[in-house]
Amino acid sequence: MTNSTEAETVSSLPTGTRMWPLKRYIEMHRHSLDDPKGFWAEEARKLDWYKTWDKVLDWKPPYAKWFVGGKLNASFQCIDRHVRTWRKSKVAIYWEGETGETRVCSYSTLFRAVNRIASVLKKLGVGKGDKVVLYLPMILELPYLMLACARIGAVHTVIFSGFSAQAIADRVNDIQAKVIVTADGGYRRGKIIALKEITDEALKRCPSVEKVVVVKRTGEAIPWTEGRDVWLSSMLEDAESFVTPEPVESNHPLYILYTSGTTGKPKGVVHSTGGYLVFNHSTYQWVFNIRDESVFWCTADVGWVTGHSSIVYAPLSHGAAIVLYEGAPDYPTVDRWWDIIEKYGVTIFYTSPTAIRMFMRAGKEWLEKHDLSSLELLGSVGEPINPEAWQWFYKHIGQDRCPIVDTWWQTETGGIMIAPAPGIEAIPLKPGSATLPLPGVDAAVVDASGKELPPNQTGLLIIRKPWPGMLLDIYESPQRYQESYWSHFPGLYYSGDFAMRDEDGYFWLLGRADEVLKIAGHRIGTAEIEDAVIAHPSVAEAAVASKPDEIKGEALVLFITLIEGESPSSTLKKEIIQHLRHAIGPIATPDEIYFVESLPKTRSGKIIRRVLKAVATGQSLGDLTTLEDTASVEEVKRAYERLKNASGKAKKLLEAKRA
Ligand code: WTA
Repeated sequence: MTNSTEAETVSSLPTGTRMWPLKRYIEMHRHSLDDPKGFWAEEARKLDWYKTWDKVLDWKPPYAKWFVGGKLNASFQCIDRHVRTWRKSKVAIYWEGETGETRVCSYSTLFRAVNRIASVLKKLGVGKGDKVVLYLPMILELPYLMLACARIGAVHTVIFSGFSAQAIADRVNDIQAKVIVTADGGYRRGKIIALKEITDEALKRCPSVEKVVVVKRTGEAIPWTEGRDVWLSSMLEDAESFVTPEPVESNHPLYILYTSGTTGKPKGVVHSTGGYLVFNHSTYQWVFNIRDESVFWCTADVGWVTGHSSIVYAPLSHGAAIVLYEGAPDYPTVDRWWDIIEKYGVTIFYTSPTAIRMFMRAGKEWLEKHDLSSLELLGSVGEPINPEAWQWFYKHIGQDRCPIVDTWWQTETGGIMIAPAPGIEAIPLKPGSATLPLPGVDAAVVDASGKELPPNQTGLLIIRKPWPGMLLDIYESPQRYQESYWSHFPGLYYSGDFAMRDEDGYFWLLGRADEVLKIAGHRIGTAEIEDAVIAHPSVAEAAVASKPDEIKGEALVLFITLIEGESPSSTLKKEIIQHLRHAIGPIATPDEIYFVESLPKTRSGKIIRRVLKAVATGQSLGDLTTLEDTASVEEVKRAYERLKNASGKAKKLLEAKRA
């Protein structure tokens, strides 16, 4: 352990903090915060620019523009740069379908495919700045299309293939997209998801869409609208083999990705091209220590930010080899993932705590059947990792020899912010902690007034300086951008997360401090779910709470009051679940629904979430003097107890049967 003199050499640590003797890391971090412009300019030179920037940073709070005036192209960074070298024959993507088929895509194959698809998009009239929606399963065409959009300067919006028609319509209408690309279906746990039907359903509400491009995946018969729908395969027949990459200004949007916030409407997070790529290129190297012989597998869906940055843009910008797997983790058997690691010799495995907990429950026997000796480094993302899951990950997947990088970041941050950086220096790990902010990231834990807290006190995580991966804006909602991130503490980026920094300066991420939930690592807002439930004709009011779940981290608990004349029933319950799956998607499926007479509210009519949470988790309720109608709390509690007893009995029965 170090003395206080060394602690003083680290910038941005609260007083009372000790520090490990991490010489390289400390020097780099200090330099990055003392001279952010110089630091990031040096990092930016690692990419290829058509024109160098005039200004490294234009910071007019709350808007940051990086590498202003610089020109580059994301598709060029991820492909053309590599095909000019020996990497042209290197594997870019090992793709594995759920059904067992495989496709190996080299950098030159990627080059050919992306160019030809870019030419198709151009023929369809897509140009610089136009928005293209991608609603696709995890097939090779998804990264191809993202990169093809980037090649011509178009802006992509990927919609997770688990989202429903309504969720698609909301997003398409928000950006007024003219072109949407989907598939004739996708495989999930042996079933076919009818993506084209879902798209058609959505498009009934989307007048802006002129063309639907369909990728053939399953070969299933699908509905077809003449004049509007086109097969990608037939368009490719006379596609050109080369499309010149469009040089775009660094702050030209690369993509818009929707994520949940505290209101019912998802936010269109806009990311830049230059800053985003520089940030991802550098942080990926620091955290994963990527080498040419690495085989990197991030198990996220491309539809989330983790997929955008850690499957597509960061690895490909390094010319890395990645694995892309289409299907469910446990299909057809629980060891599907271990089979994939063995088959492709995966060296870096990046996954979510939910997946680890699921495999923990299934048992280590499934791992023992496979040779996982290729693994060198493990990563975790998307939700807090509990120490038990961390230990299991380390011991059974990493076989006691692979360090774990727990990486904290958000859709808005574009790339990893807090994580160990073995690519810089071996940082001692603590199970459950994401360790230290990466160079260029000035993170702190503050109290409600914005004052930095001393070590070991829980507060709110904020970022003090802009970083290149920071979102540009929320699409056409500057006010929402300002309110969501910059109004809590003027000049400081508000993350919405609780955190604690310990005496070694390590960050412990403690979950969301706002109305956003993380169900199995998927981000979803309570207001979004409530709005959807209220749209059901029998529902008068709805409120959502979450309770801890052993596997998913959090599970949804729904409190509902019905309109006059309606009464609770199991049929109605099923109907509401169906309705929610239809309105949002399967990720919004509640674990429990309680029908109640009224919801706990303040005298001014605001729902008291603290009460719902206490009821949902079975904790004590605390002070209830602000309640409008305390009877409803009792009633909610009674309903909860009844259900808990009933489900407890059912569980015991099941256990007895198994025994
Ligand atoms: C949570 C995912 C603890 C956090 C990349 C954040 C984490 C939200 C971690 C963003 C981690 C992400 N430890 N919590 N390592 N990583 N989170 O936008 O609450 O889907 O605010 O981005 O996930 O979720 P999003």
